[in-house]
Amino acid sequence: MDYQALLERIAADVAPLVGSGTPAEYIPALASVDRDRFGIAVADLDGKVYGTGDWEHPFSTQSVTKVFALALALSLGGDDLWDRVGREPSGNPFNSLVQLEYENGIPRNPFINAGALVVTDRLLTLTGDASSELLEFLRAESGNPDIAFDPEVAASESEHGDRNAALAHFMASYGTIANPVPALLEDYFWQCSIEMSCADLALAARFLARHGLRADGTRLLSRSEAKQVNAVMLTCGTYDAAGEFAYRVGLPGKSGVGGGIVAVVPGRCTLCVWSPGLDRHGNSVAGMAALDRFTTLTGLSVF
Ligand code: DON
Repeated sequence: MDYQALLERIAADVAPLVGSGTPAEYIPALASVDRDRFGIAVADLDGKVYGTGDWEHPFSTQSVTKVFALALALSLGGDDLWDRVGREPSGNPFNSLVQLEYENGIPRNPFINAGALVVTDRLLTLTGDASSELLEFLRAESGNPDIAFDPEVAASESEHGDRNAALAHFMASYGTIANPVPALLEDYFWQCSIEMSCADLALAARFLARHGLRADGTRLLSRSEAKQVNAVMLTCGTYDAAGEFAYRVGLPGKSGVGGGIVAVVPGRCTLCVWSPGLDRHGNSVAGMAALDRFTTLTGLSVF
């Protein structure tokens, strides 16, 4: 497949949508990002990467890191994570509190903020420093040692982190959280602040297309676990728009309020698209459209 020509066609097709939507305003450090940016990259199984537009420009990964954190936690700590977090779509916004009380402090899935806090809590217990462990993992898988935290974004999230603090304290009251809440929140905010480009993210996600194999050929996840993570991405990776994402794109995908979306074609390739304008669910408007075009033009979906 001529990925380069394909990506250029997709970029031209979605150009009218770039700039629509709004960047995440509840994190002030993200609100000022230029909304006219657009980049898209594809990595094949061997690590050859193709891209167009702002595909090498680092952006705030935000919730896209939740999929890597889940994979790391599963690889280090096994299945007992699933005692404290579910695997069902929430049908609610990513930072919603309402289900947590009805469901006794157990979040619906690992990709809403409450669930990601549980994953981070598990990783903190296992490693002592979840965000640094995650950063090293992302550097290794992408082959880019320059990937870094953005201290300004981490501070901005911390300053405006009342909602995440509420989620974490509420879960702690049910015994879902093992570590002190302030340490957990700090680690989570650092994690969300990691900056990467579309090329970095497409490369780093390849273990999901390679049925659990890392870039160096060693195994991160069993074949079955890789299937499970992809399945949770498909059903929960874009929050209360997961049904629409499956309908339009038909791939496992994970979005972030920085405007990035990672998608996986198991056994074939990984994609990352970035454009900061978000829809009301917190998913990139042009990014969704670009992935929709990709699967429509190529037929490469899981369906
Ligand atoms: O915790 C937050 O609210 C943000 N750091 C991450 C949220 C996010 O990216 C949701 N994704 N669309």
